[in-house]
Amino acid sequence: MMARKLLLSAIIGSVFAMTATGVTAATTLKLSHNHSRDHAVHQVMTDMAKDVRDQTDGEVRIRIYPDAQLGNQRESMELMQNGALDLVKSNAAELEAFGPAYSAFNLPYLFRDKDHYYQIKSGEIGKEILNSTADKGFVGLTYYDAGARSFYSNKPIVKPEDLKGMKVRVQPSPTAIAMIKSLGGNPTPLAYGELYTAMQQGVVDAAENNIPSFSLSRHSEVSKYFSIDEHTMVPDVLVISTKSLAKLTPEHQQILMTVAVESAEKMKVLWAKAEQTEQAKAEKLGVTFVSTDKEAFAAAVAPMYQQIQTDNPALHQMIERIKAE
Ligand code: GCU
Repeated sequence: MMARKLLLSAIIGSVFAMTATGVTAATTLKLSHNHSRDHAVHQVMTDMAKDVRDQTDGEVRIRIYPDAQLGNQRESMELMQNGALDLVKSNAAELEAFGPAYSAFNLPYLFRDKDHYYQIKSGEIGKEILNSTADKGFVGLTYYDAGARSFYSNKPIVKPEDLKGMKVRVQPSPTAIAMIKSLGGNPTPLAYGELYTAMQQGVVDAAENNIPSFSLSRHSEVSKYFSIDEHTMVPDVLVISTKSLAKLTPEHQQILMTVAVESAEKMKVLWAKAEQTEQAKAEKLGVTFVSTDKEAFAAAVAPMYQQIQTDNPALHQMIERIKAE
């Protein structure tokens, strides 16, 4: 009987919470993401869920579905837009297809350094991008640090010429596709969950990601070299459907937004640790981390910026604003 009750409450997504004023219906928000439970982003979002529950006296709960259980990132975004999901942890590359303002974060060698990148994420421009998709039915709550992305493969990629003729897996982001073309590789968009097998079977020759994702997705088992060219700093992004947000009271909305931003601060610390731990794990598996000719990579992508200036005035303007910060 109890079990049935629990099941029923899970299905209707609503449970009952004790508050000072008595028993009230609680709202359960479903959150989907594609990383494992060991990933730092899962850990900070688990803490966030706990804080939201505590601070709303149990009236708002977040149930997290990791490992792309509810679908890959694109599918999760679609489920959210259809009302079947409330929150998705995606990233700026994937979101480019849903909100073009996110393209700025996918441009290679745009940020001067980590401080510049942090400043943009937490400043006016960052907020503007998070809010830019309200007319598409969702907004961003916060960015999570996801380090810098570099190439990995069974051979070292130390200069752009090394990518010639290589099939390089990219996220479904027009900017990522243009970047690989500028570098002389053949971009192959694939969902993250399909990449391990694609690398193992030689469907693609190379991929690119940050170190924790490279290691925790076990891509380190099928790539011998991780070449640190750090071409992009693509943040993860926690988004919520505008309908789900509107269902919460203004007070609960405020708690959720504040706690989300706090969890992103915690992520900065966890991320730095994860980079070290996961690099050490990959090295133990036999992966060699190599340094690269970053200037040559930056020079090879420079024409992308000229192209944007002529083809995409809105993005060009955004780039100028970012550079001026
Ligand atoms: C990062 C990011 C994921 C994304 C993945 C990818 O790991 O955190 O959100 O799916 O890159 O390359 O697809």
